[in-house]
Amino acid sequence: VIAEKLARTVNDDALRSIFLEARSAHAFLDHSVDRTLLLRIAELAALGPTSSNTLPMRIVFVDTKEGKQRLLPAVSPGNVEQTTQAPVTAIFAADMHFHEHFARIAPENSARLLQRWDGDPPNSEAARQFSWDQALLQIGYFTLAARALGLDCGPMGGFQRGAVDAEFFPDGRRRSQFLMNLGFGDDRVLKPRAPRLELTDFTSFA
Ligand SMILES: Cc1cc2nc3c(=O)[nH]c(=O)nc-3n(C[C@H](O)[C@H](O)[C@H](O)COP(=O)(O)O)c2cc1C
Repeated sequence: VIAEKLARTVNDDALRSIFLEARSAHAFLDHSVDRTLLLRIAELAALGPTSSNTLPMRIVFVDTKEGKQRLLPAVSPGNVEQTTQAPVTAIFAADMHFHEHFARIAPENSARLLQRWDGDPPNSEAARQFSWDQALLQIGYFTLAARALGLDCGPMGGFQRGAVDAEFFPDGRRRSQFLMNLGFGDDRVLKPRAPRLELTDFTSFA
């Protein structure tokens, strides 16, 4: 059984695509991205684990000129050019009403979670933080899924969250977390990758 489990290890090509050679994109080739590919990536990302399978990440794929015009005013100056160039910019948000799906996706945990949040998750600070944290994890899974299917990602924290929320989530149910440009990165403009921490800087055993 262990040998079978170990045989699941992905090959070096996969590791190159997802980690070893994958870089954050800051410029994009002039090539569109199919919506079916974006949805496939979202589907894979949703398979990554979240606490009690609560799945609070929500995504708006901005892939039209009109959508970009709505988004760009909220983007920090240093991110405008790359966001204009990218065929798609995903808005990642945490759903503050994520409990509305619990009956289907987390039936065994639903009652316990609702009780923990006084039956009113949208107005519970702990529930809102929980949604925020779990959705952040899912953005990470999305990043790796996008790379696994051949896209380059340009995650961005440089934007006005309040402005994005007012424009795209005016009912207040969702809160934007990060933006992510998606497409086929222009590798010619990449700078050398910044060094990572040494293993001894961030790992230990106990
Ligand atoms: C959450 C997050 C926010 C980021 N915000 C920005 C940003 O606003 N603008 C930008 O140009 N790059 C941004 N980056 C890109 C990072 O600088 C980049 O991922 C990091 O330096 C690693 O680069 P590498 O993937 O090429 O090794 C962001 C990355 C993440 C994960």
